[in-house]
Amino acid sequence: MMDKQAFQAQFDEYRREVEGALKALFTDKDPWGDLYESMRYSLLAGGKRIRPVMVLAFARAAGLADWRRALPAACAVELVHTYSLIHDDLPCMDDDDLRRGKPTNHKVYGGTLAVLAGDALQPEAFRLLLTAPDLDAERRCACALSLAQAAGAAGMVAGQVLDTLHAPRTREEITQVHNLKTGAMIAGACRIGVQAAGGDGDLLAAAEVYGRELGLAFQIRDDLLDVVGNEMDFGKPIGSDAEEGKVTFANLLTPKGCQKEVAACTERAVAAVAPWDGDGFLTALAEALAGRER
Ligand code: IPE
Ligand code: IPE
Ligand code: MG
Ligand code: MG
Ligand code: MG
Repeated sequence: MMDKQAFQAQFDEYRREVEGALKALFTDKDPWGDLYESMRYSLLAGGKRIRPVMVLAFARAAGLADWRRALPAACAVELVHTYSLIHDDLPCMDDDDLRRGKPTNHKVYGGTLAVLAGDALQPEAFRLLLTAPDLDAERRCACALSLAQAAGAAGMVAGQVLDTLHAPRTREEITQVHNLKTGAMIAGACRIGVQAAGGDGDLLAAAEVYGRELGLAFQIRDDLLDVVGNEMDFGKPIGSDAEEGKVTFANLLTPKGCQKEVAACTERAVAAVAPWDGDGFLTALAEALAGRER
């Protein structure tokens, strides 16, 4: 429905706005040494911004013509996501030294400031959301609750606990980890977009399904790229999962089998939002993510 060029142009427009809004954060004189610098280092290191783009796209699909009003909500999601990456790379977690094509936060600023930068990004995300100038109190609250649930002890962090401490090995176990560590935040982003537009009901439920399915597809593709990817494109070390002794979809299935799963999830995601995807952006986004190299 939407051709590749139109999709890329739309994605780039969303991404530029997100990038501009993120760049404006934590620019005051930092009273605490390198804290802001450490936060900005990871925040502006060149993430793909797929979660904030989902916030904006769902806000628009839910009828917020002036989708820029949802930018603080989009940035809030990216702040929480960035914190999760900083902590995910720590020696006590995945112990990785490359992220977004650059040395990881703790390699540059040390473990203490990496932990604290992550700590600070979380409440700052909620501050952004709860002071969003163009969202009323009801919308702010709905978005904040979705973000708390997505990132919290029954969401992303639960997935991180299982992934690092419970050695998941079966397909069922690994699928559960993926749904939690990755699906929860991606589904949260989609829900927050709808809620920033004051939407609920069927569209909110469809956004949740789209996010869950794409989250699983995204993490299966991530597992695959950890084996067959190219470090230059991927921006992360190849072989990190094997080095950490993790069993992932890349161990359970052949590359073709992984991609078949990605395609099946993508199809279910697209089907869920079809009634609201007038211009085809959500479909094009799902398809682009299924074939991503980075
Ligand atoms: C990385 O997410 C963590 C996973 C869930 C696999 P992204 O692949 O979206 O990372 P950035 O934000 O583009 O760096
Ligand atoms: C990431 O899973 C999940 C997070 C919540 C950060 P991974 O550990 O596979 O992500 P990468 O490969 O380091 O980005
Ligand atoms: Mg991890
Ligand atoms: Mg990791
Ligand atoms: Mg990975």
